[in-house]
Amino acid sequence: MKHLLNSSFSGTLKVPGDKSITHRALMFGALANGTTHIHLPLESEDTRRTMECMRALGAKIEESDEKWTVTSPGHDALHTPEDVLYTGNSGTTTRLITGLISGLGLAAKIEGDASIAKRPMDRVQQPLAEMGADIALKDEKYPPIKIKPTTLFPITYTMPIASAQVKSAILLASLFTKGETTIHEPSPSRNHTEIMLEQFGADISSKNGVITLTGGNALKSSDVTVPGDISSAAFPIVLAVLKKDSSITIENVSLNHTRSGILDVLDMMGANVTVEQTSQSGEALGRIHAAYTPKLKGFEISGDIIPRLIDEIPILALLAAYSTEECTVRGAEELRFKETDRIRAVVDELSKFGVQFTEYEDGFTVHPSQVDVMENTAVKGYNDHRIIMMLIVFSIISNRLLVIDDMSAIDISYPGFLEDLEALRKDA
Ligand code: S3P
Repeated sequence: MKHLLNSSFSGTLKVPGDKSITHRALMFGALANGTTHIHLPLESEDTRRTMECMRALGAKIEESDEKWTVTSPGHDALHTPEDVLYTGNSGTTTRLITGLISGLGLAAKIEGDASIAKRPMDRVQQPLAEMGADIALKDEKYPPIKIKPTTLFPITYTMPIASAQVKSAILLASLFTKGETTIHEPSPSRNHTEIMLEQFGADISSKNGVITLTGGNALKSSDVTVPGDISSAAFPIVLAVLKKDSSITIENVSLNHTRSGILDVLDMMGANVTVEQTSQSGEALGRIHAAYTPKLKGFEISGDIIPRLIDEIPILALLAAYSTEECTVRGAEELRFKETDRIRAVVDELSKFGVQFTEYEDGFTVHPSQVDVMENTAVKGYNDHRIIMMLIVFSIISNRLLVIDDMSAIDISYPGFLEDLEALRKDA
């Protein structure tokens, strides 16, 4: 990592495929009778967990260069897995397959790594139980998840929190349940499930925060081309904005409105970032150009924008640390239930360098600070890919080597992160 310091960054980059979309393409491909080609999938630890789970249910998945091919006998020919389904670090895999397996009327035991063991699963168990699922959790809240076969019924459910994982688990469970399931969302969360289910032929509609799915129809296999992940793009974008003389372009990245909240915040801050949309059918797609911005304004965000940038808050905290004005994030209590408690992690690590925070249960304020970074300071990544990548960007822009305890979790969402930055290094 040391060679990435003392340089600026320029050029064009394509970030890896969108993680949320890759998970869903594997699952819907496994449910649809026939062959689904997934072009430009995210090949990462998290998406491999979904791939292995779909194989364990009876789907055949072949991997070739930048393409995965899912061949399935159809949802009614999938079978009870022989072994425990291991979901690693992936909350999306864990929660979505809980809905998928309940909906298929199969039995399974699902468990993941030490982080998954601490993440709340009652948020999916409760609505699925209302549908008739039999799901047992450790201490009524945590994995391992034990599912017994039952027949499900449609429900009308008002979600207490905006969560695409909960919404998607219910939609997956309702796919083969006869009748109409209706979900009311408190704020719009990412809508990849709705977009892709429509493409796979499900009877689904979504309007003004109300999603309706009429179950009972088989899905039709369909090809998916995965756009670049804006959550991965966020790291080189922030690097370019904060690093003197830098100017980069990211091609082929998802601009889905339910995911693009970070672009709104960059705009509020007056960052030199421009966006060009190149396609709008299905998942919106485009090009983002980001360049060094010497002075960044403050921001105050809460409410509907939060689910649109929930995964980008660690890297937004870094941007905030270099703003000349106060920056506030509220209404983001969900951050405490991610791979790690991301509010705690961000406050604890950045405070070591003079960043002044006021911490709230649901967010933080970053006050204008004198950031002072000592070479070789030890920092913790909490085995959380997004905290680790934020710390790497911090190390590069401060030109000080930070000693991160363990960087292997980068592979959860962005294998090749350091290599991509290396390719953009100006004097490389
Ligand atoms: C995801 C939804 C979000 C997000 C996670 C991926 C998804 O979680 O934080 O990284 O693919 O559905 P919630 O929906 O639980 O907020």
